Amino acid sequence: MRVAVVGLGKLGACQALLFAEAGLEVMGIDVDPDALDALKRGVTTNPEPHLAEMLATYGPSIDWRSDPADAAEADVVFCVVPTPSLDSGAYDPSAVYSVADQIADAEPADDLVFCVVSTLTPGDGQRLAANVPFAVVGSPEFIALGDVFAGMRRPDLLLIGESESWAGDRVLTALRAIKHGQPDNVHPGMRYTPKAPAICRMSLTEAEVAKVALNAFLVTKIGFANTVGEICRGLGISPHPVTRAIGADHRVGHALLRPGGPAGGPCLPRDSKAFGHVAQLAGAKSSLTDMAGIVNEQTPMLWAERIAEMNPRKVAILGTAYKPGTDVTVEAFGLLLAMFLSAEGIPVVTWDPLAVCDEPDLDTAVASADLVVVATAERPDFIHPNVVDCWA
Ligand SMILES: NC(=O)c1ccc[n+]([C@@H]2O[C@H](COP(=O)([O-])OP(=O)(O)OC[C@H]3O[C@@H](n4cnc5c(N)ncnc54)[C@H](O)[C@@H]3O)[C@@H](O)[C@H]2O)c1
Repeated sequence: MRVAVVGLGKLGACQALLFAEAGLEVMGIDVDPDALDALKRGVTTNPEPHLAEMLATYGPSIDWRSDPADAAEADVVFCVVPTPSLDSGAYDPSAVYSVADQIADAEPADDLVFCVVSTLTPGDGQRLAANVPFAVVGSPEFIALGDVFAGMRRPDLLLIGESESWAGDRVLTALRAIKHGQPDNVHPGMRYTPKAPAICRMSLTEAEVAKVALNAFLVTKIGFANTVGEICRGLGISPHPVTRAIGADHRVGHALLRPGGPAGGPCLPRDSKAFGHVAQLAGAKSSLTDMAGIVNEQTPMLWAERIAEMNPRKVAILGTAYKPGTDVTVEAFGLLLAMFLSAEGIPVVTWDPLAVCDEPDLDTAVASADLVVVATAERPDFIHPNVVDCWA
C-alpha cells in the first residue's frame, strides 16, 4: 500500500516514520522547504523521544516531496496539517481543505482515500466529503507530545469516522500496520504492549465529536482533581490520599487524577474550548462545557496567588514546557505562573531541560531565588530550603 503523509510536523513526521518502519511505501510531503530539507538530511531539532533514531533508520526509505498535489499518487493520504483555533473555539480547516483541493486538481485514482488526522470541528469532514471526488475518512489522534511513538503504537482506541466503509477499511489496514508492529521492531526504551486497541467506527461527524469530547473529559478530570486539591489544601490536609481513593474506583481510574497544574499544550485546552463551541452549535445547554475551561484557566492564577502570599523576593520556576519530555510551551503552566507573578511585580527566573527559559543551568536558577516552584510533574534533582512543588 502506498501512503502519503501531508504535513510533517510534530505528529505527521512521526506517523510517516512509523508507516515506513511498518514496511509501507511512504511519501512524506510538507510545504515548508526548511523543515523538509532537514528531514531529508535526517536532522531534527524536535526533542520528541526516539524521533532522531527513527529518522536515521527509516528516513532514507521515505520519498520526501514538497507539493501536496503529489499525494494524488497514493492509495491513502493522511492529512496532518495545522488546524488553528478560531476565537469561537472552532478549528480553521482551511489547510486541510487546501490540501484536498490540490489533490483533487491532480486527478487522483477514483479509489483514493483522504484521511484527515488533523483535528476538525464537527461537520467539517462531512462538508469536505461532499465537495471532493474521493472518499474521506477522519482518524483523529490522541497522542501526547513526548510520547508520540509509544502513543501511536499502543493506542487505547482507533477512532475511524468514515464516509464509506471500504475507505475506513483501508485506513485501518494502514494504521494496524503501525499499531501492531512486532516487539523486536521497537527501539530500546519504547513501550510495547500487544493489547489490541478498541476499534471505534462511526460517521465523520460522530468521530469529530468523539475526539473533542474525549479531550474535554480529560480537561474536566484534571480540573476535578485540582478542585479536590484546593479543598484539601484549604482544610490543611494532603489531597493525595483523597485522590488515590477516588481513583481506586474502577469507574474513575487513577490517570490524570493527581492535583497539580492545569491541562496545557496544543490539544486539551483548545479541544475543551471546541467542545463548548460544539455545544453551542448543537443548542445544548449544559454549563459543564464552560465550567471545565474556567476551572482550567483559574488553576495557574490560584497557584500564583498562593505563591505571591509567601512574599518571595525572587521565584525560580522549574518547567516551562507544557509537560515533561517536550519543548512545546503552548498553554504551559510554568510560563503562565511566570506571567502572573511578574504582573504582581515579583521577579522570576525560569528553567527547563528542553524548552525556552531564562536560565538553562538548573543549579544557577535555583541558587538565584529565595523560593523555588516546581511547575512540572517530574521534579528535577535539586536542593533548596524553600520549595513549592505543585504536584507534591
Ligand atoms: N501535536 C499534537 O500533540 C497533536 C495531537 C493530536 C492532534 N493534533 C492535530 O494534528 C494536526 C497537526 O498538528 P501538529 O502538532 O503536527 O502541527 P505542526 O504545526 O507541528 O505541523 C504541521 C506541519 O504541516 C505543514 N503544513 C502546513 N500547511 C501545509 C500544507 N498546506 N501542505 C503541506 N504541509 C503543510 C507545516 O509546515 C508543518 O510542518 C493539528 O490539527 C492538531 O490539532 C496534534
